[in-house]
Amino acid sequence: MAFNIAVAGKGGCGKTSLASLIIRYVKNNGMVPILAVDADANANLGESLGLSVTHTVGELLDEFQGEKLNIPPGMTKEAYLDFKLNTVLVESPGLDLLTMGRGEGPECYCYPNLIIRKFADELSDNYAYTVMDNEAGMEHLSRRTTQNVDALLLVSNHSVKGVRTIARIQELVTSLKLVVRMELPVISMVPGKLDPLVSKELDRLEIEPAAIIPEDEELYQYDLELKSLLELPDTSKAVRAVDDLMGKVLEKVKTSSP
Ligand SMILES: Nc1ncnc2c1ncn2[C@@H]1O[C@H](COP(=O)(O)OP(=O)(O)O)[C@@H](O)[C@H]1O
Ligand SMILES: [Mg+2]
Repeated sequence: MAFNIAVAGKGGCGKTSLASLIIRYVKNNGMVPILAVDADANANLGESLGLSVTHTVGELLDEFQGEKLNIPPGMTKEAYLDFKLNTVLVESPGLDLLTMGRGEGPECYCYPNLIIRKFADELSDNYAYTVMDNEAGMEHLSRRTTQNVDALLLVSNHSVKGVRTIARIQELVTSLKLVVRMELPVISMVPGKLDPLVSKELDRLEIEPAAIIPEDEELYQYDLELKSLLELPDTSKAVRAVDDLMGKVLEKVKTSSP
């Protein structure tokens, strides 16, 4: 069974950057193979990982529902969809990426969704780690058949509203009945120290950040130039914060395992 890590938060709070740096840590520590899943409708994890994505699962579903479908003779619809799903997977040494994307049509995807769930669940069995980049609503996470998440990182930017989003996601986790082993609030893009207003809101909501990720000009520049965040140096401020966090997470897992 893969160790499942999921990152959630609202748009622009630093999720994709955090997911990328988690992948960087896991990969550099030889904990491979890794499956990265981009479950944000506004998908860009591939760009941050330096992988080029040509198809998304959403596009595939649109094609599957539409007229364009051209199933080879002798192949069932299910086998064809399964085959096509494999072509959506982008492979690289130690790291594969599945991009969910967004379907364009208004059609009901009940049947293909069933196959996707099965595909995603079976797929993750082939990996040591899965790292999933989610939007705040956690749409895809809630649709999975097995909903266990080992570490859920709840990301906020350096704002009071962001902190409130963390609390809302925590409520969502409960109402979706997700089984989450560790919930880890993270405040990202912090310029120097936490603002007292952010600290006050964290206290009020009884949220204790597991990590503070500093504002990092180097990361920002890499992102701007569309350079892979996996190539950031060990000295990058954000890399150091994420490495520390991951070290603590894995230590906690070791000590709490039977
Ligand atoms: N620690 C950081 N320091 C500086 N800029 C950051 C940091 N984390 C993210 N950013 C920048 O903030 C923007 C949004 O980050 P991103 O990770 O794409 O957020 P999300 O996936 O939540 O939308 C990007 O331009 C990114 O380069
Ligand atoms: Mg993103």
